[in-house]
Amino acid sequence: MADSDRVWIFDTTLRDGEQSPGCSMNLEEKLRVARMLEEMGVDVIEAGFPIASNGDFEAVSAIARELKKSVVCGLARAGRKDIDRAWEALKAAARPRIHTFISTSPLHMKYKLQMAPDAVHQAVVDSVTHARNLCDDVEWSAEDGSRTELPFLFRCIESAIKAGASTINIPDTVGYAEPAEFASLIAAIVANVPNIDKARLSVHCHNDLGLGVANSLAALGAGARQVECTVNGIGERAGNAALEEIVMALRTRPDRLPFRTNVDTTHIVRASRLVSAITGFAVQPNKAIVGANAFAHESGIHQDGMLKNAQTYEIMTPESVGLVRSTLVMGKHSGRAAFRAKLKELGFEALGDNLLEDAFKRFKDLADRKKDVFDEDIVALVDDQMGSTDDSIKFVSLQVVAGSKGPQIADLEIEIDGTVHNAQSRGNGPVDAVFNAIKKLVPHEAKLQLYQVHAVTAGTDAQAEVTVRLDEGGKTVNGQGADADTLCASARAYLNALNKLLIKRKKSAPAGAAADMSTVASISA
Ligand code: KIV
Ligand code: ZN
Repeated sequence: MADSDRVWIFDTTLRDGEQSPGCSMNLEEKLRVARMLEEMGVDVIEAGFPIASNGDFEAVSAIARELKKSVVCGLARAGRKDIDRAWEALKAAARPRIHTFISTSPLHMKYKLQMAPDAVHQAVVDSVTHARNLCDDVEWSAEDGSRTELPFLFRCIESAIKAGASTINIPDTVGYAEPAEFASLIAAIVANVPNIDKARLSVHCHNDLGLGVANSLAALGAGARQVECTVNGIGERAGNAALEEIVMALRTRPDRLPFRTNVDTTHIVRASRLVSAITGFAVQPNKAIVGANAFAHESGIHQDGMLKNAQTYEIMTPESVGLVRSTLVMGKHSGRAAFRAKLKELGFEALGDNLLEDAFKRFKDLADRKKDVFDEDIVALVDDQMGSTDDSIKFVSLQVVAGSKGPQIADLEIEIDGTVHNAQSRGNGPVDAVFNAIKKLVPHEAKLQLYQVHAVTAGTDAQAEVTVRLDEGGKTVNGQGADADTLCASARAYLNALNKLLIKRKKSAPAGAAADMSTVASISA
């Protein structure tokens, strides 16, 4: 395929994706997602909105410092302060990009911005000029572009390119467009903006009508060559176009969609799992490409066809998205070397010695308790260990009395800053008893917003992966825990969330109060 058929994948999981309510990620989690995206071959990673918060600024800076292959992008509104802050976060990047935007639709200009079209046009010129003075790679977006009057849109695009933007992005901000209409819009831009050949045309489609992917693909046929999307389609409201669906549609239907991306699709399942585990946003079982049932063939007729020739019912192979058949990989006799080799095979290349040792201990423990240890078990266990290495409150042990006669009692041991504490508590059910025991040891006012259990593999001895979402005064955190025992996984997840809350409290505390908040002792006092 010619170079002109190359489509850039711009991932905004860490920016638009993170804007979904409840979907907050901390710095280390954002770094893990960014590393995964770079390894996958994503062209541009929108790492955050640096002026939005110090946390966003730090995450964009850290990602900018670390990544070498992908372009790292930061979002900025049209004002100088936003753009300067974005540049401050991005300037250490090997390949930085400033992404600046302003609304261009009559509705947004009148009610949201309260600006006349000429003033908006001037803001486009000023913002892009300022961004381009700082950074060679500037993207400009016309927010609510799909509801913008065409002559005004053409005028703004032409001026943005003249001012130095090399990517022009047309968002369907409210997910209102339908494919033929959106393709016509892109075709009209190609036909009417005289200098459009000097920029890459991009689209950014929301999924309010379930058309985000369809609109993005239609836009490619009309001349767009960058698609903005998120892993698992997470994002504001109904989300954004899903990266995995776009990339696999292009790979599976080159006859209708003759475009290529740089994405190594065998990383898709792992990226989906990572984003789902970190955000606590479960993937629906029938979700295209990454749902648990996406490659399952239950009905007899289908199974029969599959046995005769897999292509009868399978348009993509599970292997092409990185879904390797679960094999019995290791058992209780496997040693450190085999464990290390397995981790390498699963994509965990550079674990530090301590992390490796802790993960190995947990693997041995699991192998003692669980008959078959699958690849998915090891991934869950290592993800859990990676997510909790810096925790100052650590799970030690748990005994629970449960059953229909009651009372349910939890006897919990945890380590706080190196000292082991113990508490017993009753509850309305075993999970409630466990969480009450945690509250006794670590008193807090945070509200439980989500408690979610997911079985890592099939079978009654499967490991449980639990997500707990806590909210304290508007600060939301997601904690994860994996264990062969669902109650232990629940305790781990709750403690992981509390650790994250503690870090958030510390970061947002005024300077004078920082000392009071700096130890766990203060929250457990
Ligand atoms: O949906 C939207 O319009 C956006 C822009 C900021 C690109 O996210
Ligand atoms: Zn958006």
